[in-house]
Amino acid sequence: MTTPELGLPMAVPAPGLPATVRIHEVGARDGLQNEKATVPTEVKAEFIRRLAEAGLSTVEATSFVHPKWVPQLADAEQLFPLVRDLSDLSGTALPVLVPNERGLDRALALGATRIAVFASATESFAKANLNRTVDEALAMFEPVVDRAKAQRAHVRGYLSMCFGDPWEGPVPVTQVVRVCRALVDMGCDELSLGDTIGVATPGHVQALLAALGEAGVPAAALGVHFHDTYGQALANTLAALQHGVTTVDASAGGLGGCPYAKSATGNLATEDLVWMLRGLGIDTGVDLDRLIATSVWMADRLGRPSPSRTVRALSHKE
Ligand code: HMG
Ligand code: MG
Repeated sequence: MTTPELGLPMAVPAPGLPATVRIHEVGARDGLQNEKATVPTEVKAEFIRRLAEAGLSTVEATSFVHPKWVPQLADAEQLFPLVRDLSDLSGTALPVLVPNERGLDRALALGATRIAVFASATESFAKANLNRTVDEALAMFEPVVDRAKAQRAHVRGYLSMCFGDPWEGPVPVTQVVRVCRALVDMGCDELSLGDTIGVATPGHVQALLAALGEAGVPAAALGVHFHDTYGQALANTLAALQHGVTTVDASAGGLGGCPYAKSATGNLATEDLVWMLRGLGIDTGVDLDRLIATSVWMADRLGRPSPSRTVRALSHKE
C-alpha cells in the first residue's frame, strides 16, 4: 500500500492482476473520427504529440479509409508526416487503420509500420462500415495482412460488435470466436475486441475471453476496446484484466464514437482508466496531470467539456 499523492488514489493492489498495462490510445482516431466539426490538421498533430509526451506508448494516429466515408480523417496524408518523427524521438507506436490494399498503399508510402484492419462480428455492421459481408471483408483484409507482414509491419485486427449490435441485438459468442479465429489465422499480431455500442457487462466479457481461450486465442494476444455508453467500460476492463488481458484501448478525455453505428458514444476515457490502474498499483507509464491538461486543451478546441469524470474532478480541483 503506497501513501497517496494529493489528487491521486491510494495504490492498493488486488490479487490476480497484471503488474503493467499497455494503453492503446485511440482519441486521435476513434475520438476525432466522430466529431461534427473538422479539427484542423495542425491541432490533431499537436494532440498526438501531447499524448506521446504524456507517456502514452501507443497513439493511434488516423485512418487511411475512403475520405467520403470518414471526412474527419480525410487529411491522413497531411497529418501522418507531421507526427511520424515521434516513433524515433520517443519510441511511440503510431498505428493507422487501413481497410484495404488502397489504404495500405497510402499508409506504407508514408512510412507507417503499424496498421490495423477492422472486421465485424455482425453482417449489419460489416455492410454499414465496409460495404461488404463479414466474409467479403475478411477476404479484403487477407492481401493487406500478407503484404503488411512481408514489410515487417505490426498488424492489429479490430473486431467490432463483439457483444451487441444496434441492428441485430445480442451477438452470440460463437459468432465472435469464428471471426477472431479467422483474423488470427490470417496473421494478425494482436486482436482488439470492440464493444462498439457499449452494451457489454463483466460476465459477458469473461465468457467471451474464456471461449476465445478454448479456441486457442490467448488473452495475451488480445486487447479490449470498450465504448462507455452505459457506464460499464471500467467494470468490463477490470473483468478483462482479471482474465489476463494487458492491453486496453482508451480515448483521452473520453472522445469517440463510430460514424457507422447508431448509439455508439465515446470510448473509455484514458484518464478514468489511468486513475483505476494507479489505484490498483498497476504501471502504465502515463503522467496523469499532463494527460488531463491535454484533454482540457482539446476540449477547449472542440468547444465542449470532456465527459471523463477524472478530467472533470481533477481539472476543477483548485
Ligand atoms: P466502397 O465504396 O465499397 O469502395 O467502400 P470500393 O472498394 O468500391 O472503391 C470505390 C472507390 O473508393 C475507388 O475509387 C477506390 O479507389 C476508392 P474509384 O476507382 O471509384 O475512383 N477507395 C479508396 N480511396 C482512398 N482510400 C481508401 C480507399 N478504398 C477505396 N482506403 C471502403 C469500401 C472500405 C473503402 C469504405 O467502406 C471505407 O472507407 N470504410 C471505412 C469506414 C470507417 O473508417 N469506419 C470507422 C472505423 S471502424 C471503428 O470505428 C470501430 C473500431 O473503433 C472498433 C469498435 O469500436 O468496434 C475500430
Ligand atoms: Mg471504437
